[in-house]
Formats: sequence, structure tokens, C-alpha cells
Amino acid sequence: MDRIFSGVQPSGNLHLGNYLGAIRNFVRLQDQYECIYCAVDMHAITVWQDPEELRQSTRELAAAFIAAGLDPKSNVIMNQSQNPNHAELAWIFNCVARLGWLNRMTQFKEKAGKDRENASVGLYAYPNLMAADILAYKATHVPVGEDQKQHLELCRDIAQKFNHDFKTELFPIVEPLILGPATRVMSLRDGSSKMSKSDPSDNSRINLTDGPDAIAQKIRRARTDSEPLPSEAAGLEGRAEAANLVGIYAALADREIADVLRDFGGSMFSDFKGALTEVAVDKLGPIGEEMQRLVADPAYIDSVLADGGARARAITAPIMAEVYETVGFIGS
Ligand code: TRP
Repeated sequence: MDRIFSGVQPSGNLHLGNYLGAIRNFVRLQDQYECIYCAVDMHAITVWQDPEELRQSTRELAAAFIAAGLDPKSNVIMNQSQNPNHAELAWIFNCVARLGWLNRMTQFKEKAGKDRENASVGLYAYPNLMAADILAYKATHVPVGEDQKQHLELCRDIAQKFNHDFKTELFPIVEPLILGPATRVMSLRDGSSKMSKSDPSDNSRINLTDGPDAIAQKIRRARTDSEPLPSEAAGLEGRAEAANLVGIYAALADREIADVLRDFGGSMFSDFKGALTEVAVDKLGPIGEEMQRLVADPAYIDSVLADGGARARAITAPIMAEVYETVGFIGS
């Protein structure tokens, strides 16, 4: 069976964008692949994290994985720092990847901003750790959003250079699984910016832990235009807010956009928002409740992560032994 690895940053405030863009897809892949899903706490600390908040966010993310339907027995659910092989392999990849490759990474440029001199070395080497996450398991498929495509390309380059330099075929060349339509969920207040945990307005996003009242209120307040809904997808062009709400509806209801517009074409947003609230409460309500229940039991969450960590180490140990042998290290 092909192996999947994917990581999500434990950064708190999980929202609808994280769910539709990543977590929900993970749930769908669990029957077809052997899956390792990881809260990447080591990536998180490439920028400052309050230690207690990091621990809490890591548990929340694990709770979201489980509440959304990932089975912690048939998948590995873990936090990255449980398995030191990620960091060990990342060091080796620091010596494989070239400065020129990392200099091209757009995420570093965005996150480092103007004050690049003051960015952590970890933020710069971030993609090497990501490649190590994946290749320590010889994972072949990686479900990610569009924004991670460049990092996956780098992972392929690292695997290729390692294989070439050491005359081996140790590492597979991974394939991205860029998932489904409507995975790019935009802010409810501004259809041109991504739904984000760092948007100062809580009304811009639906958090996974929002109850029915909060969900209804945020959808009611969501920005729209004054035209009725179009009957065909082409009519959404240039109407970012309308396109976003229709996309969210389609994703939550598991229907095609064209199909949704066949039903709602000509309706006013007031009616459509009612239907959207219904499907959002129906799909997200139980997940939020289960998350709350799980987060209230940190001992259980921690035991899932520890068990995942142990199983993860069992997968990577023989692969790391091969890497050590290949590189010329003595030891295991
Ligand atoms: N960089 C990814 C993100 O920000 C998270 C991540 C870390 C990841 N390691 C990974 C994703 C390995 C896929 C595979 O979304």
C-alpha cells in the first residue's frame, strides 16, 4: 500500500479553511493509503511560540484530526517532535540542499518579511525539515494545499540529489496530491484574502469549535454583493465573496458548484445563507463538540500522540539505518 505523510502546523484557532483544505481530505484518504498525520511542532517553532500555547495547539490539532474522523489506530497520528529521526534526516538534508534552492522559496520571503537578517535559521531551513518529514518514511504521496507545491518540488530535488550523489535509489520521488475544488476557503469579510487564524476579525472565519449560534451569526454577517446568485459557475467570475460562499456550500454539502447553482440560481443571499448555515451547522457542529470533549481529556490525546510516535519511530528506524549506511556514518 502506498504511504502518505502530511503535516499541519499546530498554530491554534483551527478553522473551516483548515478543515476543507486539509483535514477532511486526510479522512478520505485513510482507507486507500497507509497514513501518517503529523502536528509539525518543530516547524511551528521556526517563529516564536509560547510553550504552553504550543502544547495546547498541538493537542487541539490532534483532537481535530480525531474528531473529523481519522482513526488513531489505523493511521499514525503524532506530533513531529515524538520522532527524532525527522531532525536527524533534516540535518543530512541541510548538507544536500543548496543555498540557491532555499533562496527561491517564496514562503520564506513572505514569512521573513523585510527584516530577513532577524529571521531564524530554522525558518530558512524549514523546507529541508519538511523533506525529512516525508522521506524519513519513504512516503510516496503528500496531500497538500497549492501553497506547499514549491516545498514539495524541493523535496523531490533533495531526493534526486541525494540518490544521485550517493548512487542509490533510497528515496522515492514524491507526488503531491492537490486536493479537490473549493479547498481554498477565503475570509468571510474579504473574498480576496485567505481565511486565516491571524485575521484580527473573528467574523472573518468559522472556527472548528464555533457552536451553531456563532456559525449562524458569522454567515449572516458574511460579505456579499447585492445581486442574486447566478445560475451558472461563469456568473461567479469577479464576484469573489459570492464564489467563496458557494464554494463553501458545495464543499460542505459534497456537491458540484454547477449543481448548487442549479438549485440556488436567482435566489437572494438571505435565502442562500440560511441553507449554508444549515449545512455548516450540520457538518461542523458534531466535529466541534467532539473536539471540545477530546481537548478536555489531555491524557487521552497525549496517549494517542505517544502511541503514534512509537509506531512512527518503528517505521523510520530501518530507513534511517539505511541512510546512515549510505552516508558513511557508524552507528544506527
Ligand atoms: N509546511 C506545511 C504547511 O505549512 C506543513 C508541513 C510540514 C508538511 N511538514 C510537512 C506538509 C510534510 C506535508 C508534508 O502547511
